[in-house]
Amino acid sequence: MENDGKIPSHVAIIMDGNGRWAKKRGMERVEGHRAGAVAVKNLVENLKGKGIRYLTLYAFSTENWKRSKEEVDALMELLCEFIDANLDLIVEKEIRLLVMGRMHGMPENVQKKLRNAIQATSKNKGETLIFALNYGGRAEIADAARQIAKDVLKGKVKSDDIDEALFSRYLYLPDVPDPDLLIRTSGELRLSNFLLWSLSYSEIYVTDILWPDFDIAELDKAIDDFQKRNRRYGGR
Ligand code: IPE
Ligand code: IPE
Ligand code: MG
Repeated sequence: MENDGKIPSHVAIIMDGNGRWAKKRGMERVEGHRAGAVAVKNLVENLKGKGIRYLTLYAFSTENWKRSKEEVDALMELLCEFIDANLDLIVEKEIRLLVMGRMHGMPENVQKKLRNAIQATSKNKGETLIFALNYGGRAEIADAARQIAKDVLKGKVKSDDIDEALFSRYLYLPDVPDPDLLIRTSGELRLSNFLLWSLSYSEIYVTDILWPDFDIAELDKAIDDFQKRNRRYGGR
């Protein structure tokens, strides 16, 4: 199956390198995160018309709690500021906002802000922007397994009926298709616990560009590269 110039319908991005971006400039890590938020805003502003239907951004992993309290607090604060500053833009662009991850593990004020933003954009018919927050690929699979076990006990699911299709319906966002293209910035060649189930057949693009320097032109480069790929899904 050739891509024939096809645009990836779902692009997922591991937004990495904020700390290194700041270090290069002799700045604090949090300044890198601030610049990273500007990069997100610029993508949101320029997404329309590209043909991308879903954009998933890995913003905070289940492992990122290991960072200093100062850095974690700053990230949560920046997230709230991002929503406050950009909700109008998101609405104006007709973008629907979703969140994936263990929402209940986020600070209460952040949850409230996110729920409000999700609600405010729920009727939008344009692109879907998904923030992966307190997200872990293993956590997602474990959460799905726990829910399936409960439904088996309730008699809602027969254990013999558990297959890949049924399992997928228990993931955080069952209606969102698997990513076609995974982008990781700042050169690291690993998944860092991102979307372990859904990335099975995604094309992977890694760039040395640090996240705050990633812009729409860099996204276009990734899409160009994607268009040269030959997706075979195990067949011929
Ligand atoms: C990515 O940048 C942002 C988050 C993980 C929240 P990093 O903070 O991981 O930046 P580096 O990897 O230290 O450069
Ligand atoms: C992955 O980046 C998580 C996010 C981008 C939110 P990390 O910087 O946390 O990943 P590692 O530690 O390099 O694997
Ligand atoms: Mg990193």
